[in-house]
Amino acid sequence: MFIKKLELTNFKCHTTSLYELGMVNHFFGDNYSGKSSIGEAIVFCLYGVTKHGYKGFVKDYLQENKGYMKVDVVFEKDDQEYLVVRTMNLKGTTVYLNHKQIKDKELSELVGDYHSFIYCFFPEVFPEEDKSAARTYLIENLLATKDEFELLEKEKSSILSQQKKVDSSKTFYEGQKSVLKRQIDSILDKQKNYTPVPHEIMDKKEKLQEGITAICENLDKHQVVENQLQTRMKVYQDKLKELGPLPYLQDETCPTCKQSLPKSQAETLHFVHKAKLDEVKKEMELLEAELRAHRYQHRKFMEKKSILESTLAQLDNSFPLVPMVELPTSQIHELKNVESTLSELIQKKASLGEDLKKLKHQLGQLANTYQNQINKNLTHTKVELFKQLKNGELRPDFQITYYNRPYRVLSNSEKIRCMLEIIAVINQEKNSSYPIFLDNLESVTHLTQPTTQVLTATVKKGLPLTLKVKG
Ligand SMILES: Nc1ncnc2c1ncn2[C@@H]1O[C@H](COP(=O)(O)OP(=O)(O)OP(=O)(O)O)[C@@H](O)[C@H]1O
Ligand SMILES: [Mg+2]
Repeated sequence: MFIKKLELTNFKCHTTSLYELGMVNHFFGDNYSGKSSIGEAIVFCLYGVTKHGYKGFVKDYLQENKGYMKVDVVFEKDDQEYLVVRTMNLKGTTVYLNHKQIKDKELSELVGDYHSFIYCFFPEVFPEEDKSAARTYLIENLLATKDEFELLEKEKSSILSQQKKVDSSKTFYEGQKSVLKRQIDSILDKQKNYTPVPHEIMDKKEKLQEGITAICENLDKHQVVENQLQTRMKVYQDKLKELGPLPYLQDETCPTCKQSLPKSQAETLHFVHKAKLDEVKKEMELLEAELRAHRYQHRKFMEKKSILESTLAQLDNSFPLVPMVELPTSQIHELKNVESTLSELIQKKASLGEDLKKLKHQLGQLANTYQNQINKNLTHTKVELFKQLKNGELRPDFQITYYNRPYRVLSNSEKIRCMLEIIAVINQEKNSSYPIFLDNLESVTHLTQPTTQVLTATVKKGLPLTLKVKG
C-alpha cells in the first residue's frame, strides 16, 4: 500500500491540510503543530477507529466548534489507485470508496485487517498489546495456523485431571482391598481354629438326649398313673369316713330307731362293721404299697434322668457346639472385583502417563517449530512465544527481545529498529506493504530505511508543520 495523498478537514488542529506523499516523508514542526495527528487521521480514514482501535473515541478528533470532519486518503495498491473518504458529523461517520459509500467490512477487504495495519503503521502498538492477543496474532498470521499449542495444553490438562481422578480412585480401591483382605483373613483365622465335636461324642450326646426324652415321657405316664392311684385312695378314704368308727359292743343303740340293741345283735353289727372297715383298710394298704412302689420307681427315674443330664452337661462343657464358620465367599468375590478394577486403574494410569509423555514431547517439538518459524527472518530481534518453567515445562508466553534484551529496557531508537524487523516479517508473511509512521523521530540519528512507505514526524522548534518528501 502506498499513500499518495492525504487531506484533513477539521481534524484536530488541522482545519484544511493537504499532503502529497512519496516513499519517504518527513514531517517537521513544533510541538502541537499536528504531526501525530497525521498518523491518527490515516487510521481514522481507513478503519474508523483511533490508534488503539477504539471506535467511540474518534468523536474527539472533531475540531472544536466544528460540526463536520473529513479525511481523504488516496492510495495505490497492486497498481490500482483508490480514494477513501471518511466523514464525520455529530451523528456518526460515513466512509466512501471511490465516491461510493461502503461498509467498513468491505473496505477492510481492500486495505487489510486492522491489526496487521496498525502493528505495521504504529510500531509502538504491538509490544504494548495484551500478551495473549499479540501471541495469538503472531501464531495465526505469521505461522498461519491455529494455536495448536493451546489445544495440546488443553489436552495435557485433561490428561492431568484424569490422572488425578485415577490416582484418587486407586487410593480408594487400595483402601477397599486392604479392608476386604483383613476381613477375609480374620474369617479364615476363625475357620482355622474351628474344631468340630467328634462323631462318637455327638452320638453319645444324642443317645443321652434320647434317654432323657424317654425318661421324661415315662415320667409323664407315671404322673397319670399317680393321679389315678391318688383318686382311688381318695375313694377309699371317703368310704372310711362314710363307715365311721367301729361301734362299741355294750350300750349299743339302733342307728335308725335309737333303741338299745340286744348284745347278740350289737355283736353282729360290730363284726359286720369291722369286716367292712378291715376290707377297706386292706384295700388301702394294698393301694399304699402300690403308691410306694410307684414313687420309688419315680425317684429311680428322676435319679437316672439327673445322671443323664449331668453327663450331657459335662459333654457340652468339654465339647461345646461351636457354630461352623462360613467361607468368606462374598468378600473373596468382592476382592476379585476390586483387584480387577485396580489393575484396570494401574493400566489406565500407565497409558495416561504414556500419553502425557508423548504430549509433552509434541509440545516441545511444536514450541521449537513455532520458535524457529517465527524467528527465522529476524536478525537481532527475537520473539519468545514460550517460557520455560523451573520444572522444564513450557508455558505460552510473549516476549520481544533485541540483542537479547527485553523490549521494555530498550532505548527509543532500539525499540524502533527492533519493531522494524518484526514489521518486515509481518509484511512479508501477509504479502502486504503497509506504510510506517515513525513519530517523535528526533531521538533517532540514523535508521536503515524500511522497504515500505515511511512517514516520520520530528519536532523542530519554531517550525510550522512542514513536509519534506524523498523518493
Ligand atoms: N478536537 C480537537 N480540536 C482542536 N485541536 C485539538 C483537538 N484534539 C487535539 N487537539 C490539539 O491538536 C494539537 C496537535 O496535536 P498533535 O498530537 O498532532 O501535535 P504534535 O505535533 O504531535 O505535538 P508533539 O510534538 O507535542 O507531539 C494539540 O495541541 C492537541 O491538543
Ligand atoms: Mg506528537
